[in-house]
Amino acid sequence: MSEIRLAIVGCGGITLQNHLPGIAMCGGARLTALCDANAQTLERAQTQTGVGVGSTDFQEVVVREDVDAVIIATPNLFHGPIAQAAIAAGKHVLCEKPIAMNYQEAKAMAEAADQAGLRHMTAFTYRFVPAMRYLSHLVQDGFLGDPYHFRCCRLQDWGNRDLGWRQEARLAGTGELGDMLSHRIDFSHLLLGPMTRLCAHLKQFVADREGHASNLDDWSSILADFKSGATGVLESSKLATGRNESWKSQDYLELNGSQGSVVFLTGHWDELQLGKPGGDGLETVKIPKEFWTWPGSPRDPQQGDPLVTFRYDQAFEFLEAIRQQRDCTPSFWDGARALQVMDAAVVSSNEARWVHLD
Ligand SMILES: NC(=O)c1ccc[n+]([C@@H]2O[C@H](COP(=O)([O-])OP(=O)(O)OC[C@H]3O[C@@H](n4cnc5c(N)ncnc54)[C@H](O)[C@@H]3O)[C@@H](O)[C@H]2O)c1
Repeated sequence: MSEIRLAIVGCGGITLQNHLPGIAMCGGARLTALCDANAQTLERAQTQTGVGVGSTDFQEVVVREDVDAVIIATPNLFHGPIAQAAIAAGKHVLCEKPIAMNYQEAKAMAEAADQAGLRHMTAFTYRFVPAMRYLSHLVQDGFLGDPYHFRCCRLQDWGNRDLGWRQEARLAGTGELGDMLSHRIDFSHLLLGPMTRLCAHLKQFVADREGHASNLDDWSSILADFKSGATGVLESSKLATGRNESWKSQDYLELNGSQGSVVFLTGHWDELQLGKPGGDGLETVKIPKEFWTWPGSPRDPQQGDPLVTFRYDQAFEFLEAIRQQRDCTPSFWDGARALQVMDAAVVSSNEARWVHLD
C-alpha cells in the first residue's frame, strides 16, 4: 500500500489536538474525507485541512472507495456503531477510548475486525509517553523483582463547568472512570497483566454544571488484586481544585516490587525516579534516547512541547501496523479488557462490594 487514505469521524477537540497533527507528521498518509454530525464543526475542519469531501453522516464516509482507514473521535456512544460500519466496509479502524459503552460491545468490535483481517487500535495515548515506555521496559526487564503495588493518581481541576456529552450517561457511559482512569487501567494491564478482583467507588459531587444536569462520576477509584499477585490503587478526579487541567495537572504513577520501585511524575516525560533496596531513597534517572520516540517514528522530540507531541506517535503506530499487516499496539482487545474492568467497577460501586473478573 503506497499511500494510506484516511477518514476522520468526529472533528472536535481530540481530532484537532492529536489526530490532525499526528497524521500531518507521518509520511505516506492522506486525509480524504471528514465527518462531523455538527455542520459548523465539519466546515471548520474542512477549511483547516483543505479536505473537500465532508458529510454529517458517518455511513456515507466509511463506505467510500477512497478511504482505507477510519479514525473515530466522537462521543463514546457512537464508537461501536461507527466502528462496526467501517469494519463491514473493509476499513481499518483507530478508535478513541473508551472504544465502546461496555465490554460486550467492545469484544464484538474486536472479533469483527479480526474476522475481517483488519487492523484495529485503541487510542490509549498515554502508552506513548516516553518515560512510561521506559517504565514498561524496566518492568518487563525484571527491575522490580516480584511486583507488590501499582499506584496511580490523576488529579485535574475541571471545576463545575459544563462538560457537554461527557457528563451524560447516555452518551459517555461513565464519567471520570472512562475519561481518565481508563488510560491507567490499560497501563496497569500492560505492566502487571489482568486483575482478578476489584472494589470500586465512583462518586458525583457536581450534579449541575452551568445549568446542564450531570449524572456521572467526577471522581473514580479502584482497589484491585492482579493475577500476578500485585495489588493496585487507582484514583482519578476532575475536582482537585487548583491543580489545573490537562497535561499540566497531577499525573503520578508508582510501582513497588521486591527488588525496586519506579515513579513517573507529570511533566517529566524523559525522567523516572528509581529506588533499590538499601538505597538512600529515590534517584532521578534520565531515560535513554531510544525511548524518546516510538520505534521508527519520524517525530523530532526536540520540536514543540514534548508533553504534547508524544501523542503524534499514536498515528504513526496505526499507519505502520496497516503497512506491515500486523496487530496495532494497543488494539481493540486492550480497549475491551479496560472496559471489562470499568463494567466491574460500576457494579462494584453501585452494589458496594468486591467483584471478581474472569
Ligand atoms: N486519547 C485521549 O487522550 C483522549 C483525549 C480526549 C478525548 N478522547 C476521546 O475522544 C472522543 C472525542 O472527545 P473530544 O474531546 O474530541 O469530544 P468533542 O466533543 O470535542 O468532539 C466530538 C465531536 O464528535 C461530533 N459528533 C457527535 N456525534 C457524532 C456522530 N454520530 N457522527 C459524527 N460526529 C459526531 C461532535 O459534533 C463533536 O464535534 C471521546 O471518546 C473521548 O473520550 C481521548
